[in-house]
Amino acid sequence: MDLIKAMQERHAVRSYQNKPIDGETCRQLSEIIDACNAESGLHIQLIVNEPKAFDSFMAHYGKFYGVKNYVALIGKKSEDEKIGYYGEKVALAAQALGLNTCWVAMSYKKVKTAFQIGTGEKLYCVLSLGYGVNDGVPHKSKSVNDVSIGYESAPEYFQKGVNAALLAPTARNQQKFVFSYADGKVSAKAGVGFYAKVDLGIAKYHFELGSGMEKIDWI
Ligand SMILES: Cc1cc2nc3c(=O)[nH]c(=O)nc-3n(C[C@H](O)[C@H](O)[C@H](O)COP(=O)(O)O)c2cc1C
Repeated sequence: MDLIKAMQERHAVRSYQNKPIDGETCRQLSEIIDACNAESGLHIQLIVNEPKAFDSFMAHYGKFYGVKNYVALIGKKSEDEKIGYYGEKVALAAQALGLNTCWVAMSYKKVKTAFQIGTGEKLYCVLSLGYGVNDGVPHKSKSVNDVSIGYESAPEYFQKGVNAALLAPTARNQQKFVFSYADGKVSAKAGVGFYAKVDLGIAKYHFELGSGMEKIDWI
């Protein structure tokens, strides 16, 4: 699975073709979701052929059309960053499998019969999912110096990580995260804002992937 290519090619897609996700693709995506849940303790669920969540004035006002599949990003409370990290892992895997996605915090209805929420858990966001009518367009982006400290003197892996983080989806395209490099150590901070901690988890997943390092020791 070429996740670097998926990261470069992923853009928010809000309109989908009337075409069910094929069985083998569903099976592979379910396997990835199961692995994410086993590793993280989250309760992410794949929901297919469920048109009600996005069949409303609110969804159409939000420019969502033809959404019949989605991923419910469910976990215990205060796990925003983890939801971002593993949610984006699922989104990029979906992209690599030929699907399109969009992170959605608003603009959808919670159809309670479609998924299970355990005690102490909540539904943070969903990822709309399907074959897009197009592949979306690159977002307007901040510069590396807007979102990092110590960029010029940092090693290449850090620079690659920051550039990859700039490709990450963020709520309202706010890109409020900041990555710092000092004394051989990397840290990342969320900004203040709507879903900023979820955004941080998404950006950290992109950073790790783009850096080419097997593991980043975050401080
Ligand atoms: C946590 C989060 C919540 C989002 N919520 C919504 C939403 O409710 N409605 C919407 O249309 N887009 C939503 N988005 C999509 C962003 O607007 C989009 O990712 C951003 O503009 C960057 O564009 P890109 O995904 O094409 O890179 C959300 C993104 C994130 C990360």
